[in-house]
Amino acid sequence: MTTPGSLLYYRGRVGLYHILRLLGVGSGDEVILQAFTCVAVPEAVMAVGAIPVWADLAAGSVNLDADDFAAKITPRTKAVIVQHTFGMPADLDAILPVAQRHGIPVLEDCCHTFASKHRQRVVGTIGAAAFWSYEWGKPIIAGVGGEAGFNDPTLQACAESGYSRDFRPPPRKKSVVIAAQYFMFTLLYGPRRYWLVRRAFHMLGRAGVAQSNYNPVGPGAAMAADFGWQMCGFSRRRLARARHQAMAFLPERVRQAERYIIGLRADAARLPVSPTGAEAVYARLPLFVRQKEILLDAARAANLELAGWYATAVHPLAGDELRLVHYTLGSCPRAEAAASTLVSLPVHPKVTPAFQDRLIAFLNRHGSA
Ligand SMILES: Cc1ncc(COP(=O)(O)O)c(C=O)c1O
Repeated sequence: MTTPGSLLYYRGRVGLYHILRLLGVGSGDEVILQAFTCVAVPEAVMAVGAIPVWADLAAGSVNLDADDFAAKITPRTKAVIVQHTFGMPADLDAILPVAQRHGIPVLEDCCHTFASKHRQRVVGTIGAAAFWSYEWGKPIIAGVGGEAGFNDPTLQACAESGYSRDFRPPPRKKSVVIAAQYFMFTLLYGPRRYWLVRRAFHMLGRAGVAQSNYNPVGPGAAMAADFGWQMCGFSRRRLARARHQAMAFLPERVRQAERYIIGLRADAARLPVSPTGAEAVYARLPLFVRQKEILLDAARAANLELAGWYATAVHPLAGDELRLVHYTLGSCPRAEAAASTLVSLPVHPKVTPAFQDRLIAFLNRHGSA
């Protein structure tokens, strides 16, 4: 899962921010990352003053393309972020040699996974450092929170020595809001109430009542206070139990994903390709479908959980907003195609076999239409 000596932050992106700072990444430097991600990732890159440089997905995959990564390297490249999207391990056999050849540290984005493996090594223990997220959409839910782990002892020593100086506990009010959200989520969420809970969460987030996932980004935006905070007290107290629950659920997580895979017809949905030696433990099961928007509308009407993220190359930014994170529309065509053709299915303790059968029947009926 995480590495010994890992540190806890307000969110996953704050862990990434600390890693970048420790690597000395700063103004004018470049950090390569895949498109088909969350805006939180470039937000952290830009928080240290660096420029996100976008690379496309590998063909048929939801993860970084090693060739496009190689093509994007310049003398200013200071790091590459390798995302294991939805828990599918990235093609580290192809990516690591490129990074090593150029002396570029590999930072693993493990926000969607705690147990996936690459050639029998748990992801997050392979690159120079890694970061995790523990909010609602992730496999370990502690409220809102993040962690960074360091596989390089020098980096770890520096991280530990500066942590308490550079990161403070957030205001108590944050802990209270996160606790309230956590209990609301735990009580209300179920795969038949997904759309309702999602709408409520977005409404409360927009009203400033709930802790939203997104901060303003771009030239005019001030750096979020999040980047000076440790994990809040509530999430910190909750984390050990959340980890334990996630470990206990692991075999069932694998079984739920298999049940979907076995039940789905090949003409209804297609699993992204996985590199040799990869063992995915899915946060959610990602599937390429035809007619994504029609399918999402039908799922909403049928009250069946089906998620559409990432809806854009840098979710949730769209159109001109993408320029705020230095993304040019059309620059990563596979990522943009994934955003318009990929949905994901819930894998969760509240998912029952009966729900899975309904969702499978729904996808087999609508997906091939
Ligand atoms: C792939 C990925 N990386 C990083 C993050 C950021 O995590 P956090 O919201 O905890 O900062 C997210 C989602 O929010 C994500 O989906």
